[in-house]
Amino acid sequence: MSSPAIFDRLLQSLVAQLPSDQHILITLRFQKQAPILLEKLRALYGHKFAEDAGFIEWMDQLLRVTGRMMARRPADLRKLDQQRSENKEWFSTQHMLGYCAYVDRFAGNLCGVADRIPHLKKLGVTYLHLLPFLKARQGENDGGFAVSDFDAIEPQLGSMADLQELAAQLRSAGISLCADFILNHVADDHPWALAAKSGHPGYRDYFYHYPDRTQPAIFEATLGQVFPQVAPGNFSFIDEMQQWVWTTFYPYQWDLNYTNPAVFADITAALLQLANRGVEVFRLDSTAFLWKREATNCMNQPEAHWILQALRCIVEIAAPGVLLKAEAIVPTAELPAYLGSQQPLVKECHLAYHSSLMAASWVALAEQNTDLIRQVMQATPELPEQASWLTYVRCHDDIGWNVLRPEASSGAQDVQQRLAHVARFFAGEEGSFARGASFQASDPAAVHGTVGMASALAGLSAAKTPLEQEYALRRMSLLYGLSMCFGGMPLIYMGDEFAQMNDDDYRQQAGHEYDSRWLHRPLWNADMAASAHHLNSNAGSMLHSLSHLLQQRRSLPQLAAHQPRRLLAGMPAEILAFIRGGQDDALVYIANFSAQTSALNLSAGLTQAGLQTTRISWCNQLDQTIYSDTLILPPWSQVWLTKVIQSTNQPQHPIPSGVIA
Ligand code: GLC
Repeated sequence: MSSPAIFDRLLQSLVAQLPSDQHILITLRFQKQAPILLEKLRALYGHKFAEDAGFIEWMDQLLRVTGRMMARRPADLRKLDQQRSENKEWFSTQHMLGYCAYVDRFAGNLCGVADRIPHLKKLGVTYLHLLPFLKARQGENDGGFAVSDFDAIEPQLGSMADLQELAAQLRSAGISLCADFILNHVADDHPWALAAKSGHPGYRDYFYHYPDRTQPAIFEATLGQVFPQVAPGNFSFIDEMQQWVWTTFYPYQWDLNYTNPAVFADITAALLQLANRGVEVFRLDSTAFLWKREATNCMNQPEAHWILQALRCIVEIAAPGVLLKAEAIVPTAELPAYLGSQQPLVKECHLAYHSSLMAASWVALAEQNTDLIRQVMQATPELPEQASWLTYVRCHDDIGWNVLRPEASSGAQDVQQRLAHVARFFAGEEGSFARGASFQASDPAAVHGTVGMASALAGLSAAKTPLEQEYALRRMSLLYGLSMCFGGMPLIYMGDEFAQMNDDDYRQQAGHEYDSRWLHRPLWNADMAASAHHLNSNAGSMLHSLSHLLQQRRSLPQLAAHQPRRLLAGMPAEILAFIRGGQDDALVYIANFSAQTSALNLSAGLTQAGLQTTRISWCNQLDQTIYSDTLILPPWSQVWLTKVIQSTNQPQHPIPSGVIA
């Protein structure tokens, strides 16, 4: 229990360095967050101190540092904090749109990114995720995911002043800058790792280290592997330390030991420092791995959530305009916890990638069956307040099929066989239209992931006829349309707006050749961008189609993240249909995930959903066609229907009906 005197002491430490005109505001924020913050941190670290007084002393230090960071927070960012505190759902509207790119591949360096702002504005982007740009390890560094300094920029990409300038330019263009915050591990040349190597006992305990294989072997018995081919196992022997160090990813990425309170405190300070530089959204990398526990897969542990909840409290106090986004590539059942919950009210990250939805939507293309998407949707609870999904089609990583194991095993199917078929399909086998590749499978029968640009996976590279090209582009639009209608913030992956192809040259690039994710990390293709003015080019068609979908989405408040969503069940397997919004302003999304034309009895399905009366017709917002009863869906197509009140009844056509769940 914490007495009022303890809260008062902590508050005094927090505000000590803040001007007195901020005290009332900060006191209010603190009072709201302090009980949860204390509860979570005490649960994590209370037992690390011989007496509670020691823990309170540590908390006091943590809040003193937080206060120091707040004192340095620039006035424009404090103003943004205030505006967003008054409109806490600002990131949940149908106007939000994300874009994700590597700085160098998109625009050379940070200054170059500023030159791309007009392109982003044209698409309607409001959030730009730039993949890691902090100073990374020399040599191999997992595309920047091995950070050597949280407060320095990778020299080839620019300087800290460039970052601040870019963040400000983006902000004035209405775009929030999102940065990766790689808090699960640091590079083996980060000062903490160097100090550990040189024998500093304090810094050795920033990492999990073991003198021999006994303890690692116990953990390995239940651990998975992220890169089974090129970085098997989860521990690496470090010569300088003569110890085995926990390295979930590559051997040069050392997992941080969050049982050590100093790690939490230092990571918090690093995050607040970057927030003061103008980063508005933090993509919290690999959040599922933050806590280790014997006899588990060391993912999704309760303590990992407490760490994130404590971080959220600190952000709410120090920089409430900032968002936290969870990258947790985990089965659907484990995902919602990263957004907290409504009852009981738990606040964790503001955003989380919906990786199951993304993977299931690709499976639907391969199987011409929407079963997995429906299961994923049914297993996705309503969003808690101030939280939203990040919905996406592709990103810089592989599409991991294993997150779908629970859904894919339904109906007594052989899950291994089913997902292996999907992986083979996207690798271009079995007569498929796709031209991706399998990622890191340790044996041909094992399922891991798939790599490749969306256009290649959707069939554009293999298309030989105009119709095949058209179908490939439709498949991409189908998946992007779903990401826009599901309920969350959709994200465009750089190059997809022009249907950019795979980059096969990665095999010739030193340091990239062994990691096939580089297949889908191409350089911005200036020729394609230029040809996008011509509607008859693939780039032009894709850009046109995507821009059109986005434009419609912006005009449909039913598509805001918090609007209700319910599935229309009883549809044929290839059809996905769901309703967004309320009874009166319902938007009905219906998509055909197959190569056949599908005909549906619209009115029967919607009558059972309580949406249809005799005087209602439906207008497809994408092309303004009016439907009253029969809906004909060409191959790989979608409609976004809203109600139109008619004065007369429409003719009826007898078609098999859809039944409402
Ligand atoms: C995340 C990143 C991935 C990286 C890994 C290790 O999953 O998205 O690209 O390899 O973390 O940092």
